[in-house]
Amino acid sequence: MTKPHPSCETTHNTHRVVIVGAGMAALYAALELAPRPVLMISPEPLGEGASSAWAQGGIAAAMDQADSPAAHARDTQRAGAGTVAAEVAAMVTRLARDHVHELTDLGTPFDRTPDGGFVMSREAAHSMARVVRVKGDQAGKQIMETLIAAVRATPSVQVLEGTQAVRLEVCEGAATGVWISPATGGCAPQLLRAPAILLAGGGSGGLFAHTTNPPRIRGQVIGLAARAGALIADPEFVQFHPTAFDIGEDPAPLATEALRGDGAILINANGDRFMQSVHPDGELAPRDIVARAIFAETQAGRRPMLDTRAALGAEVISRFPTVAETCARAGIDPVAEPIPIAVAAHYHMGGIDTDVQGRSSLDQLWVCGEAASTGLHGANRLASNGLLEALVYARNAATDIAQQLAQTAADPTAATSDLQLSFDASPLTATAPASAIAKLRETMTAHVGVRRDDAGLKSALATIETLLAQHGDDESFANMCATATLIAAAALQRRESRGGHFRDDCPASDPNQAHRTHITLTQACAIRAEAAQELT
Ligand code: SIN
Repeated sequence: MTKPHPSCETTHNTHRVVIVGAGMAALYAALELAPRPVLMISPEPLGEGASSAWAQGGIAAAMDQADSPAAHARDTQRAGAGTVAAEVAAMVTRLARDHVHELTDLGTPFDRTPDGGFVMSREAAHSMARVVRVKGDQAGKQIMETLIAAVRATPSVQVLEGTQAVRLEVCEGAATGVWISPATGGCAPQLLRAPAILLAGGGSGGLFAHTTNPPRIRGQVIGLAARAGALIADPEFVQFHPTAFDIGEDPAPLATEALRGDGAILINANGDRFMQSVHPDGELAPRDIVARAIFAETQAGRRPMLDTRAALGAEVISRFPTVAETCARAGIDPVAEPIPIAVAAHYHMGGIDTDVQGRSSLDQLWVCGEAASTGLHGANRLASNGLLEALVYARNAATDIAQQLAQTAADPTAATSDLQLSFDASPLTATAPASAIAKLRETMTAHVGVRRDDAGLKSALATIETLLAQHGDDESFANMCATATLIAAAALQRRESRGGHFRDDCPASDPNQAHRTHITLTQACAIRAEAAQELT
């Protein structure tokens, strides 16, 4: 059994399913579990701070008569650069339509054609327009609003806003509880023992200094599972979005790929359209290829820009309101001038190793959403497959949890009173300073970013080791460092380039390495210790 947290004195027992996170996957799973009682651990008020709410593109689904799940699965595998699990791609793409209809029934105002069909956007590496959207570029925001309204109207769901999970309790290979503390940190955590725990707390983009992810999303949930011994898959595969606004904001606002799907082009400061010489699909090449080309322009001092003028004219304002709002804030008129852009960490293909039912390698622990690594995305996620995967695995996990609990637990529909928690301000627990988090993020962008090499990855691992030694008493920071370690260690081990993982010192793909990575935190820490030792 894991050692109790040194300052943990309070234990609560609940028969609610505990869901860690409050994004799209978490909300959808809570609804799927109803009327079984659920307790959601939400660091922010619902709707704030979750990556899903910031998604612009939409949900990839073969809704068109001319399209098929098989074609969608083929595109998913092609984009994934040789490591997509074929059976997972087949299952997820087959279920896509059901989930779009389910969201429609819940009230999501998808954009519709005059004859009642779905308006489809085209995004990179899709062989046809296949992304259902909401109010132009507001898919994430609108779907989240729909789900939040449904959750608020579901009495079986209790939401603990302002709390975060910092650690798991593990007993004989099963996750038996989760320590939670106020999201602001500082107070001693309290242990919540529950019959089932579902992790749906997002990815790792915010571990990088340049990111499109909300500030709360810094690999904490992947790190928490890894520290408890859960197996991690594909951590080296991080997706960098090619077109984040380069306007000095942290996080960097996104300029959706659907703009390029509608004909927007990429130019540099000289006015040259550089993607045509890089890939036959030009601006709609797979995302990793476009990201590296943008990065090269930035590095060469030829500021890359997204030019919507000829393709969209004034329509960019009405059809892409989120992009228009960012432009207005930055003083850019996209009708008259191109938008300055840069790459930014956007999505983590790696995460907690998860089977088709959403089970992790620990009993009683399920995962869905970006924290999971299901094998769908391979080395490079196909655009708008992220929300789709979140929905499919939220339902799969909820169904599996309900089935397992039906064999063991009391009447799932029995009335349950809300769990009451209050945190004492003492004893105070350690909090890593903002400078330590900034150093971690700068290190990840500098050495574990779009282009990597042996020396840089080792230096990143040594820096993480030092930061952890200084500030590892802060559990949330230790979780971030765990995920950073896993990403850098797996990237060091993968001596080839594939999808989102590019090594300057091994730029070719090696067919012998066309497989997924499975790694524990113990293994990653051994790699980190060796790298740190080598540099002393
Ligand atoms: C975008 O709208 O460009 C992002 C979509 C995605 O990341 O899937």
